[in-house]
Amino acid sequence: MITREQLIAAAMQARHRAHAPYSKFHVGAALATEAGTIITGCNVESASYGLTLCAERVALSKAVSEGQRPCGRIAVVADTPTPTPPCGACRQLIWELAGNVEVILANLEGQTVIFTMQELLPHAFAAEFLTMSHNPDASPGRRS
Ligand code: THU
Repeated sequence: MITREQLIAAAMQARHRAHAPYSKFHVGAALATEAGTIITGCNVESASYGLTLCAERVALSKAVSEGQRPCGRIAVVADTPTPTPPCGACRQLIWELAGNVEVILANLEGQTVIFTMQELLPHAFAAEFLTMSHNPDASPGRRS
């Protein structure tokens, strides 16, 4: 099992690779996989601001594209006095791809705060709601 300390260290390294020339807010993320590996991400900003990718979603997308399944825990590191929590969009994707994992927030002073995804995203929307629709055409994968 990948330890919290290993994930925080990996997220700190990834943070150095952040491409954040606009916000100058550098974020690193690292997730553990079922295979016992670590996959990292950093935020990647665009001059067309809305295209910006958060560190967490970069790590999750890398895991999917490499055929790895997130498992257990994910760490997020930023340089803020209070450790930075994931944005709403990232919470949604963490929930969908990793489930009720442990989310470790850390800053550069060594402070950590730990949540479960259930705590960060109660009453989440997820794929099963698509299957519960009263509209039979709304089930996932159904083409009109
Ligand atoms: N950001 C992340 O990468 N993860 C978070 O959890 C919060 C925000 C990034 C997006 C953007 O590049 C910068 O931080 C400022 O919002």
